[in-house]
Amino acid sequence: IPVKDATSDMAIISRKGSQLVRKHREQKERKKAQQKHWELAGTKLGDIMGIKKTEDGDSSGGKPVGEDGRVDYRTDQKFADHMKDKSEASSEFAKKKTLLEQRQYLPIFAVRQQLLNIIRDNSIVIVVGETGSGKTTQLTQYLHEDGYTSYGMVGCTQPRRVAAMSVAKRVSEELGSNLGEEVGYAIRFEDCTSEKTVIKYMTDGILLRESLRESDLDHYSAVIMDEAHERSLNTDVLFGLLREVVSRRSDLKLIVTSATMDSDKFAAFFGNVPIFHIPGRTFPVDILFSKTPQEDYVEAAVKQALQIHLSGMGGDILIFMPGQEDIEVTSDQIVERLEDLESAPPLTVLPIYSQLPSDLQAKIFQKAPDGVRKCIVATNIAETSLTVDGIMFVVDAGYCKLKVFNPRIGMDALQVYPISQANANQRAGRAGRTGPGQCYRLYTQSAFKNEMLTTTIPEIQRTNLANVVLLLKSLGVQDLLLFHFMDPPPEDNMLNSMYQLWILGALDNTGSLTPTGRLMVEFPLDPALSKMLIVSCDMGCSADILIIVSMLSVPAIFYRPKGREEESDQVREKFSVPESDHLTYLNVYLQWKNNNYSSIWCNEHFIHTKAMRKVRPSMCIQCIGDSLFGMGYTPDYITYHELVMTTKEYMQCVTAVDGEWLAELGPMFYSVKQAGKSRMENRRRAKEEITNMEEEMSLAEQQLRSRREDQ
Ligand code: CDP
Ligand code: MG
Repeated sequence: IPVKDATSDMAIISRKGSQLVRKHREQKERKKAQQKHWELAGTKLGDIMGIKKTEDGDSSGGKPVGEDGRVDYRTDQKFADHMKDKSEASSEFAKKKTLLEQRQYLPIFAVRQQLLNIIRDNSIVIVVGETGSGKTTQLTQYLHEDGYTSYGMVGCTQPRRVAAMSVAKRVSEELGSNLGEEVGYAIRFEDCTSEKTVIKYMTDGILLRESLRESDLDHYSAVIMDEAHERSLNTDVLFGLLREVVSRRSDLKLIVTSATMDSDKFAAFFGNVPIFHIPGRTFPVDILFSKTPQEDYVEAAVKQALQIHLSGMGGDILIFMPGQEDIEVTSDQIVERLEDLESAPPLTVLPIYSQLPSDLQAKIFQKAPDGVRKCIVATNIAETSLTVDGIMFVVDAGYCKLKVFNPRIGMDALQVYPISQANANQRAGRAGRTGPGQCYRLYTQSAFKNEMLTTTIPEIQRTNLANVVLLLKSLGVQDLLLFHFMDPPPEDNMLNSMYQLWILGALDNTGSLTPTGRLMVEFPLDPALSKMLIVSCDMGCSADILIIVSMLSVPAIFYRPKGREEESDQVREKFSVPESDHLTYLNVYLQWKNNNYSSIWCNEHFIHTKAMRKVRPSMCIQCIGDSLFGMGYTPDYITYHELVMTTKEYMQCVTAVDGEWLAELGPMFYSVKQAGKSRMENRRRAKEEITNMEEEMSLAEQQLRSRREDQ
């Protein structure tokens, strides 16, 4: 054990399991070192960064306000009067009136009627407009006001959960209704809609799953596929599916929105449909590149933010970081260094990333008290999906986290990559929404020009497709290579994902869905987790596995508040099952249950109550081994839930398994060395199995070929 060469990569990774702990330690060290070298007082801040202004005046992030950029309010005066009358009817609507004024100030309002006309005349329309022009919040309402909700819902998909929730909240306020009534949202494991709901925001994954139950999406009169430029995996699959739905349903409107200009491709894909441009209203943004490459972008960003803050210039700051850890360190550092300074002006530092609890996320939209500057530290979530007003300064570290499929190990790895030029320009543009701004790029101009891709590779071309394959198979798409993708995924990725599904028993030797596979589609989970749940039923441990799967599917359970890190680590030790993170999770849940699901108990144990509550509605560890195929490394074997690659590879959520289990559960990859006769016997059987499989596969191939010829 193990018998197959392919597993040797995994063995290397498994040895690095303990590096998770080491990484934390390193981070602490780095923090200490940073503090030591920081001498803010007496240092000329301008010298720290060595930032220079570009000679060629690259201002791609923003354009001056011009004739075309001005908003003409007369365009839809009737509507405005109508809405004003409505809101002025009662003084109770005073608040609504200001919201109404905000709505009318948005660039999209100037073209409201033209937009509705073009939608009336066409089944599919591409809408292009700068971030903040009002696409996400207004389009749904315009369609509602134009009568589309009288025969179905207006659905609007978002690639991100945070965006779906926050936008639904905003729109329900604009409409003057309670969230979950006329305006609702649905994300995985959370449905905040009701019978009354006519405007529904949701993640693209939700709509994709809805299409499983209702392939023509009959509940909808209009679907807005928002943020299409993000090219998320689910959006790309939906493109292919919705294209077909619209051809079957002439009453359905499909609107595809994009913040960037590469919309011609969308228009062509949907059959040369019209593109509608919302005139922009942006201010010039000065773009400043770092003179030299920055070794530590966290350090560079902290210094830059402080320099801006202490410069006396007004306006909020937005810092782009690749992920949660960097965001936390950056935020902490800014706060700590400010505390060391005497009489520094007040600054509110607000982190935002998708795993952050939603009440904390909402803070970024709140206005800071007068005289207090906001400094938002965000992932690329703030690039286009969320618009925060008042940003004058953008600090761009130049990196983002991307999920990239690594065919060598057959798994997705979340890794930090340089952003693309398109990302960089979007980020810069955030500084020019409410006035002229500045964007500090923590990378050189030459890196921008020579090392960054023009646009990011769409997710579908770089990610594990196991879920997509499963979904499309269950929708009856037999030959995935014939499915109409805007950018087809590499054949290797597709085949590799099919191979994984075959390992999990979801596909048979001919590539068709097995009964297990059919069951697996039902779960909104990674195929490995679905399989784990299914297997647990046979093993009589589904109650425990259900808890573990749920715990793995919610945002982070534990938190480490600043200043109480050691205390919280000690408390966490109490739950720890040394040989298994999975069992540790189970332990946490069971103890919470024993304490009557108490939130006080959660607080005492540094556990997020909100995350735990999500787990609630929703062992034996052998089934974990069955789904998350193990890695061989003598003497112990472990399985992991997720592989995270930063500069090194880390495994998240690890459990030790018995080597014998691997041989038992995955006989085609693992075997226990045996002596003499039985070994001969095994080899004979293995040979027989392979011959049978090859026969089956060649038969399937013949069928496939003749089907393709027919088409
Ligand atoms: O989709 P697009 O980027 O074109 O704009 P939007 O998301 O509809 O945002 C329009 C405006 O709504 C923003 O400028 C914000 O002022 C406001 N908004 C908000 O205040 N809170 C939200 N959660 C979302 C939008
Ligand atoms: Mg938007």
